[in-house]
Amino acid sequence: MAVATDVQETYLRMVEKLKEVVPDFELKQKAELVFEINRLKAEKGAVILGHNYMEPALYHTVPDFRGDSLELSRKAAVVKGDPIVFCGVRFMAETAKILNPEKTVLLPAKEAGCSLAGSITAEDVRQLKQRFPGVPVVTYVNTYADVKAESDICCTSGNAAAVVESLKTDAVIFLPDEYLARNVAKETGRHIIFPISHPNGLRSADVLLEYAMVGWNGKCEVHERFTVEDVQRVRQQFPDVVILAHPECPPEVVAVSDFSGSTSAMIKYVERTHAPRYLLLTECSMGDNVAAENPDKEMLRLCSVRCPHMNQITLQDTLDALRYNRYQIEVPEEIRVRAKRAVDRMLAIG
Ligand code: 13P
Ligand code: SF4
Repeated sequence: MAVATDVQETYLRMVEKLKEVVPDFELKQKAELVFEINRLKAEKGAVILGHNYMEPALYHTVPDFRGDSLELSRKAAVVKGDPIVFCGVRFMAETAKILNPEKTVLLPAKEAGCSLAGSITAEDVRQLKQRFPGVPVVTYVNTYADVKAESDICCTSGNAAAVVESLKTDAVIFLPDEYLARNVAKETGRHIIFPISHPNGLRSADVLLEYAMVGWNGKCEVHERFTVEDVQRVRQQFPDVVILAHPECPPEVVAVSDFSGSTSAMIKYVERTHAPRYLLLTECSMGDNVAAENPDKEMLRLCSVRCPHMNQITLQDTLDALRYNRYQIEVPEEIRVRAKRAVDRMLAIG
């Protein structure tokens, strides 16, 4: 959205876009914050990146670029502004810092984490590498920099299968999302094991003969909550609904959905197709964001599921990030250089 000249113009633009998904009193209150963020952003030469899970009044007003993890990583590698304010969670802001060490990268809420990133440590990866020597390590970008630094290549939900196939090896270690790994294993025709469930129970030689993918038991606390029963119930009530599932959902949920893809792939799917109604099995703010962009399409909601980490990024915190230059992301140089190799290798895949 181009910068409005005053708060009233900001409010009117927000009403035009968001009247169906955000109550008017909230738009009135938030227009002041939006106007001030955009004013300060221009004054400071800052750039704001916003993930697709940001709340609608933020998502549609202040980011210069919006997208899924892969798109924002690509953007972070080439953006001009400084500081970069990352309206997303810590691992995303860290990726921006890994790619832009000379710039200030700000995360508006200090504690905005991720259950997947929190599920694995660099030491866990080192132990897996010892256990499966020579097997390349693919880590989902939803990990912290020190875990990326132990990896050969990163992936996102938008390119996970392509990354695995690009390695052209019989076996890969794929961390840390169990469900994404299971979904990718299915897509690439591989067997999968989870050594964490069998402490001391498997020898690497046995595993590599029989299995082609080694996973970990991390879960997204949002997507793990969707069930096959949810899908069945909605289909019973709305037989013509098109159901889209993020690949962090359990494989049995993905199997009964009509489409699975990254957050941006889901957005594009809704934009390019003409179904009577859609249901997104993903973080619930995204349903509102897609509804605001597609007023002619009906979006059903299973709206109990908001990511508590993404939810910490508010307009007020974004304004304070710009005002007080906080919270600055730092990555030790020795870790950054190694993590960058894994991220660059992913970005080199088309
Ligand atoms: P995307 O890369 O699909 O945007 O997913 C990021 C994420 O955290 C999903 O929960
Ligand atoms: Fe992490 Fe899940 Fe939140 Fe995405 S939705 S940031 S994977 S906890």
